[in-house]
Amino acid sequence: MTPEDFAALLTPEGRTLLDSLRDYDPGKELAVATRLRRDHPAPLVSAALGQARLRQRAVAKFGAEDAFRMYFTPGGAEMATRASVAAYRAGRLAALGVRSVADLCCGIGGDALALARRGIRVLAVDRDPLTAAVARANAAALGLADLVEVREEDVTAVDTSGYDAVFVDPARRGGRGRVFDPEAYSPPLSWAARAAAATPCGAVKIAPGIPHEAVPAGAEAEWISDHGDVKEAVLWFGTAAADALSGTGPAVRATLLPGPRTLHAAGPLPPPPVGPVGRYLYEPDGAVIRSHLVAEVAAQLGGRLIDPTIAYVTADELRATPYATAYEITDVLPFGLKPLKALLRERGVGTLTVKKRGSAIEPEELRRKVKPQGPNAATVFLTRVAGAPSMLIGGPVSAL
Ligand SMILES: C[S@@+](CC[C@H](N)C(=O)[O-])C[C@H]1O[C@@H](n2cnc3c(N)ncnc32)[C@H](O)[C@@H]1O
Repeated sequence: MTPEDFAALLTPEGRTLLDSLRDYDPGKELAVATRLRRDHPAPLVSAALGQARLRQRAVAKFGAEDAFRMYFTPGGAEMATRASVAAYRAGRLAALGVRSVADLCCGIGGDALALARRGIRVLAVDRDPLTAAVARANAAALGLADLVEVREEDVTAVDTSGYDAVFVDPARRGGRGRVFDPEAYSPPLSWAARAAAATPCGAVKIAPGIPHEAVPAGAEAEWISDHGDVKEAVLWFGTAAADALSGTGPAVRATLLPGPRTLHAAGPLPPPPVGPVGRYLYEPDGAVIRSHLVAEVAAQLGGRLIDPTIAYVTADELRATPYATAYEITDVLPFGLKPLKALLRERGVGTLTVKKRGSAIEPEELRRKVKPQGPNAATVFLTRVAGAPSMLIGGPVSAL
């Protein structure tokens, strides 16, 4: 889609055509396109069909109400922050007293729109002409144009003085797909961190796989999950990381959405004790694991690790926690296909959930080999207990 094709979509004819495609079935594209081309120019039909598909896919990130009013580019939809995470981050900035943000690398506006919805004035910058046009159209479509100024420019040329905060979300995809080296981000992480650290309050979105050693001094790193899936990490600077800077507060935090439920290190904790598998096994949320806060969760649960290198916590008592999922364990066995098959047969287990940590076995491969059959369900954890490959069998605790 060229900026000209996109501009045609914003005309009254383009809007009516796109709105008529809300429920369109991409499987019938050829027939729909042929019919529409009788009354509309071919480039407009093709832009509208492409946009209709993007809107349908964007529902998962933005919800139907917004997705069917917004516009996307394929890359922009992919890279956009999901609405739940963007709303949480905007809320954190608003709570810090931020009233204006320079959103450097705004993409199609995932973050800019969430900030504006918090009443924050946003300068949204992207160097890609189509992406900038889409961001502008999105601000208008959601009634936020008064708060969002979109500029088509290279972020390295933008003067951010006068803004309370700077947020940078570098592109982590290049021509050949995902980029893993933070210095290969566009702009590079070192530039983004400098830009964020140079303002009263700064934030940089990064991949959740960032090693802790790569977190710049004086920054706070936050890992965010949504419904149990780790979505991203953010580096916070300035007032947003005041405690980390002064050394009096957390330099890492884990935030779980919906909620938010935030866990931070209350100071350096000794590693959790290690001991035998108890009646309950807790699987910490991915954000807790990534932020290295398993010891905090173990302490809250009065629990211990089953192995010093494995992030499963065990305890004999059940305690409610938002930071981990609890399972009741009925059997602990050394790893082996035959004993597992026999046990599942004896229990009539036909639905087997396989979880693993510290095991090379693929869940699908295991299910294929044990061929579970029967009316019951169970969960098997393939892991290590005190260094030994082991299987823990049980099921989720439903009512906590
Ligand atoms: C990860 S996306 C931003 C997503 C956005 N936060 C959202 O939620 O929709 C990164 C964007 O940065 C833009 N970009 C990369 N390098 C840039 C630069 N030097 N100047 C301006 N924009 C840049 C890309 O065009 C891309 O749209």
